[in-house]
Amino acid sequence: MIKNKNEIDQVIKKFIGKKGSLIPLLQEIQSIEKYLSKPMMRYVSEKTGIKIAQIYGVATFYTMFRLKPQGKHIIRVCQGTACHVSGANQILSRIKRDLNLEGENDTTEDKLFTVMEVACLGCCSLAPVIMINDDTHGNLKPDNISKILKKYN
Ligand code: FES
Repeated sequence: MIKNKNEIDQVIKKFIGKKGSLIPLLQEIQSIEKYLSKPMMRYVSEKTGIKIAQIYGVATFYTMFRLKPQGKHIIRVCQGTACHVSGANQILSRIKRDLNLEGENDTTEDKLFTVMEVACLGCCSLAPVIMINDDTHGNLKPDNISKILKKYN
């Protein structure tokens, strides 16, 4: 069953038959659904005639696409050079510890947070930096993390 079917159909209609439109099509769908599920990729394939293998190939090749549901709040942990040398890894470890994220798991069980490691966020003078949704938090120390995360609960 496809959620937001009408909205998705409108997006597909906008791109159908246009050359080179698969990436922008998937981006728009992801902005509606927050991720690309297998049923959604199958639906796009049926509607557009694009082979499912091609859709899956694009969705798995580009890091901007997500194949799993995301949390309500997205935490981007900068791993650029300035942040890296200023302790980004300790910040990341502390975030994961506070959120009980183990191994490859990047989303909390309650789907409140998803943690991502990203390249330079463009505010290196504040290193180490994280962004939570559109909010920038800089000059971080591991001990600041719990207090910051509580604001988003
Ligand atoms: S390296 Fe982290 S903001 Fe630039």
